[in-house]
Amino acid sequence: VRRLTVPAIQRRKAGGVTAEPVVMLTAYTARMAQLLDPVCDMLLVGDSLGQVIYGLDTTVRVTLDMMCAHGAAVVRGSYKSVVVIDMPFGSYEASPEAAFLSAARVMKETGAAAVKLEGGEAMAPTIAFLVARGIPVVGHVGLTPQAVNALGGYGARGKSAAEAAKIAADARAVSDAGAFAMVIEGVMEPLARDITGQVSAVTIGIGASPACDGQVLVLDDMLGMFERVPRFVRRFDDLAGRISAAAESYAAAVRERSFPADAELYGVQRADSKPA
Ligand code: KIV
Ligand code: NA
Repeated sequence: VRRLTVPAIQRRKAGGVTAEPVVMLTAYTARMAQLLDPVCDMLLVGDSLGQVIYGLDTTVRVTLDMMCAHGAAVVRGSYKSVVVIDMPFGSYEASPEAAFLSAARVMKETGAAAVKLEGGEAMAPTIAFLVARGIPVVGHVGLTPQAVNALGGYGARGKSAAEAAKIAADARAVSDAGAFAMVIEGVMEPLARDITGQVSAVTIGIGASPACDGQVLVLDDMLGMFERVPRFVRRFDDLAGRISAAAESYAAAVRERSFPADAELYGVQRADSKPA
């Protein structure tokens, strides 16, 4: 199977409507990438790994080293999906040149197809700079978690007419700058619907709208790994409960010495085996 390409994702929206929604999930490890790859069109190595993998309380302290290590693992574990790597806070905002150096490092060290960065109009020149130099870019507008210290929290965006107009302008700027896709996160539904109709970039919603050209969720959120999740998360499983139950079964087996059993040991004559 050949890996999907960025132009192939773009062609989904060529006629103005996306007949087949783009399926995206986050992945941070090689094995998870292997499991998700046959099902997804795109895998996002999100800087959400800061919270999900490293126990940080925001994404602000995530480093380029972390993104490169997990990005390389996800690329190794996948063969079909377009892999997108988040640019962490501080690695791209200072200038288009700084962004290029960081993004080029990510591309070289991971083998991913594209990078993602947060921001609207202010980041448009940077997006154009990267795209002109051969680095496909995914934008991210609306609720942008790296700006949590400025926004004051993770509440939905675009509630006032002024804020909605600003987010729509951000989305148009990101698309016009050449981003092939953009995540729209945590906004009022009609705004995400309008943006999707206005921009040529493929819109990928999270807490946005079913009208978006695709959807993404944080893997561990949708698997039910966390107690507290935003309103926009649907839990498709209860992995946290199943992991706790498995750990309890293991602990009970160890404590009653029923694990390990003969069949799980070397050099023990099994009751059911024939004599040599
Ligand atoms: O970091 C991440 O996982 C993301 C998605 C929520 C879009 O940016
Ligand atoms: Na992110």
